[in-house]
Amino acid sequence: MTATTRADYGIDAPKVILNFLVLGTVLVLAGLGLRFEKGFGWGWGLVWWGSTWWATALLMVMYAKFGKFRQRDRILDLAQLGGGETVLDVGTGRGLLAIGAARRLTTGRSIGIDVFQKEDLSGNSLERTQANLVAEGVEGRVEIRADDARKLSLESASVDRVVSNLCLHNLYKKDERAQALAEIVRVLKPGGRAVISDYKLVDEYAAAFRAHGLTVAKHGPYLMDTFPPLRIVVAIKPA
Ligand SMILES: C[S@@+](CC[C@H](N)C(=O)[O-])C[C@H]1O[C@@H](n2cnc3c(N)ncnc32)[C@H](O)[C@@H]1O
Repeated sequence: MTATTRADYGIDAPKVILNFLVLGTVLVLAGLGLRFEKGFGWGWGLVWWGSTWWATALLMVMYAKFGKFRQRDRILDLAQLGGGETVLDVGTGRGLLAIGAARRLTTGRSIGIDVFQKEDLSGNSLERTQANLVAEGVEGRVEIRADDARKLSLESASVDRVVSNLCLHNLYKKDERAQALAEIVRVLKPGGRAVISDYKLVDEYAAAFRAHGLTVAKHGPYLMDTFPPLRIVVAIKPA
């Protein structure tokens, strides 16, 4: 297969962004109506409130179009790849970290797993992620699997690095997140490193890793180029 289109890594939480735009528009229109039809000065308050929802939606789109690539590079820098590792991207979506890791590897291999939920990422599907591999010229160097973070199909102690961005908060129950974190610890080799980025619950992930005996460090929040601001936990399994 040859590359015909540019890779597209999608817009995160597309329905949330749409809802913010609709809410903002309703508030702005209501505010303008109250100000100019009824003469209520506080209509400007609604206009301002609506504008903040528009601004929030805009910042989320800016993250998806620009900021996520800087966050990808931060995560992969913290993964400290030498080139020969096996890297697992949990909740790869359209392949952001799995493809980024493959480009830094020489003899190693990159695996991305996901359940491909459309509400979490626009155009989310195994086929589109495979198309991104072709577009980025890394097909054959990345394996994409339909797999659930709560029950990974990988063998225990089989990967050197686990990376993940904006995935684990999508598991809404704490015990399910704990299950996914235990799976990450299970598949990591002794001495292996997990680099997990998310906009919330990072302290919970850190505590879970500590409870499994891993050494933990936290980084961020990265306020300049991620929205909502992302934080990263790095956890190292004892050798
Ligand atoms: C916001 S997207 C982020 C995708 C990618 N990591 C990125 O940064 O572009 C979250 C991803 O987590 C995936 N996800 C949600 N629940 C999951 C689960 N239980 N197992 C694996 N992936 C999951 C979604 O399908 C989605 O692709």
